[in-house]
Amino acid sequence: MARITAGVATSHVPAIGAAMDLKKTAEPYWQPLFAGYDWSRQWIAQEKPDVVILVYNDHASAFDMKIIPTFAIGCGERYKPADEGWGPRPVPDVIGEPDLAWHIAQSLILDEFDMTIINEMDVDHGLTVPLSLMFGQPDAWPCRVIPVAVNVVTYPPPSGNRCWRLGEAIARAVESFPEDLNVQIWGTGGMSHQLQGPRAGLINAEWDNRFLDLMSQSDDGEALRAIEHIEYLRETGSEGIEMVMWLIMRGALGDKVRPLHRHYHVPASNTAVGHLVLEPAR
Ligand code: DHB
Ligand code: FE
Repeated sequence: MARITAGVATSHVPAIGAAMDLKKTAEPYWQPLFAGYDWSRQWIAQEKPDVVILVYNDHASAFDMKIIPTFAIGCGERYKPADEGWGPRPVPDVIGEPDLAWHIAQSLILDEFDMTIINEMDVDHGLTVPLSLMFGQPDAWPCRVIPVAVNVVTYPPPSGNRCWRLGEAIARAVESFPEDLNVQIWGTGGMSHQLQGPRAGLINAEWDNRFLDLMSQSDDGEALRAIEHIEYLRETGSEGIEMVMWLIMRGALGDKVRPLHRHYHVPASNTAVGHLVLEPAR
């Protein structure tokens, strides 16, 4: 039986990918940010997940105003790094897991989550930067990846409660897959950041840390699920809404979790970087 063995949350700032690709990680600006991922890289090398369900958002690379799926699942064999304007990142192709992905798509749709099914797309920094942070710079990514893309770019994004419940449904789908697979679920994006307008550069460390506390807590997520879009917008900036994707991961782990690792660092470009490693405590 497939099982979800851990959840990871991490920001996905594109400049982090550029710092790695351009070998700047030891520079004083970047060193403390990457230091917070040392523990996680050692941990994941032991854990060796077969598959990562990687919840992320596309930033007008695969989708644009022509098509805006609220929730989409990648069922393809492989995905190339997207060209976001300065050429694709020099990172390996992302290898999919079509059998499990189609199983999850079927289970979710019959469970009344109307997923968009994607067989072909390129993946942007939202997906490749978390892989780089967790795995470094290997010749090939050491696991298969099922991309789950969430619209947090164009209003209206899904509610936090809907995201949590999607996570619960993903867990049910994984548990009903007969093959013995070690599956992790990652929630990416955030934390506080605003890239445009008069409040560009906004960071709210107090709010972010309360969110990290709530994410690490064992309960039914009521406080997290009740956070409205307007609160993310007001307290964490226009791009802070990316954090609803963390709730998909958290919902998939069940009520009881054991926090294994936590990291928070400001600044990385315009963003407060947050990172959690959680284990379901069944
Ligand atoms: C930045 C952060 C993001 O989440 C993103 O998608 C693009 C840019 C930034 O801080 O530069
Ligand atoms: Fe983003």
